[in-house]
Amino acid sequence: MAKKDINKSEFSEETKLKLDLFRECYREWFPVFVHNPYIKHIFVYDMFAGSGTDSVGNPGSPIILFQESRGDRKQHCKSLLKKNAPQVTFAFNEFEPTKKDELDENVSKEFSACKSQCTENECPFEKSFYCGQNDFSNLINGNANFNQILSNKNYAKFILLDQYGFKQINDDVFLKLVNSPNTDFIFFIASSFIKRFKDLPAVTAYFDNKKISYDETKPKECHRVITDYFRNLIPPEKNYYLHSFTIQKGTNYYGLIFGTNHSLGMEKFVKVCWRHDKQAGESNCNIDNDFELGTLFYDPNNSIRRNTMEGIVESKILQSEITDNITGLNYVLKNGCEPKLFVEVVKKLLQQGKIQVDGKFNSQSTNIHKVEKYKIVII
Ligand SMILES: C[S@@+](CC[C@H](N)C(=O)[O-])C[C@H]1O[C@@H](n2cnc3c(N)ncnc32)[C@H](O)[C@@H]1O
Repeated sequence: MAKKDINKSEFSEETKLKLDLFRECYREWFPVFVHNPYIKHIFVYDMFAGSGTDSVGNPGSPIILFQESRGDRKQHCKSLLKKNAPQVTFAFNEFEPTKKDELDENVSKEFSACKSQCTENECPFEKSFYCGQNDFSNLINGNANFNQILSNKNYAKFILLDQYGFKQINDDVFLKLVNSPNTDFIFFIASSFIKRFKDLPAVTAYFDNKKISYDETKPKECHRVITDYFRNLIPPEKNYYLHSFTIQKGTNYYGLIFGTNHSLGMEKFVKVCWRHDKQAGESNCNIDNDFELGTLFYDPNNSIRRNTMEGIVESKILQSEITDNITGLNYVLKNGCEPKLFVEVVKKLLQQGKIQVDGKFNSQSTNIHKVEKYKIVII
């Protein structure tokens, strides 16, 4: 994940983890929109697509996005061939001309291989591929077609921003994505960003203002601070979800930040993060110094992150800052934990006789946008 050409050698273990996170996140995301009757078109953008594979043929992000759009049993192809199903467009972008040519070749190889094994008469992806060779900043700042797609609420957009450096995602780009309807994105933060982040003028002002101390020698904490910086840019009236995952490679730390304006999008991402990090759901490097797997006191149900969040939720309930289940589930999710943690805390407080419920208690902790509301009353 250093600045050398990532596609010219075999992907490292950490790059594979990053790609697994992209894959799993997209795997969860895509079917939601395939089956959404209000969505007419799904746009899958890979803005820094690379050439499509590594030196030994492992799939890179554009190929992964196509593979996951079919599904392991081609189940999504079947759904996409139904009447009124959304159309799908893959917009893969690579700035380097030779890599763009390789990308064209690798995408068309993957597509031909898929069709040669297929038993369906029709393919929903026949006209789906578009590979461009643009500078990302020109696309996001000046491309009218892209901007129209971004602002259309009947179009679902998944945007992958696997940049080398950090300069591509500035405050304006971030806010443009945040303010686009049905637009979810993941962006990558290189290790070098940690060192230079604090020197960006907007960031310096933010740190001074909020009296935030930022210690670049503690990169584990830095990703939380960086995510909080971006979170702080979101207009306060906007209901938005942001979560990050840190990947350690030797002494370097890389980060992924996922953003969505729908709780379901974040439920899916957070689930993937906790699958990879059973203690904190936010890194491959034991961010809170919990007991490690294989040591005597290891207990994934009793981690520092989980215990801290349980404590915070409990006190927010008892101080009447969280007064209903919907607020509580959202609070937990917005803080990067699975919403079931909230239900566990409520059950404990009910058992202890510290609260009661006004309305009908329910344990639902997935699809929280559809949960039936109940109020919490302190006894
Ligand atoms: C980290 S690599 C992407 C790797 C890819 N996601 C994969 O899985 O193989 C970043 C890519 O972005 C390209 N790139 C760099 N600057 C760019 C820009 N301004 N606009 C578009 N692409 C750019 C680079 O040539 C490089 O191939």
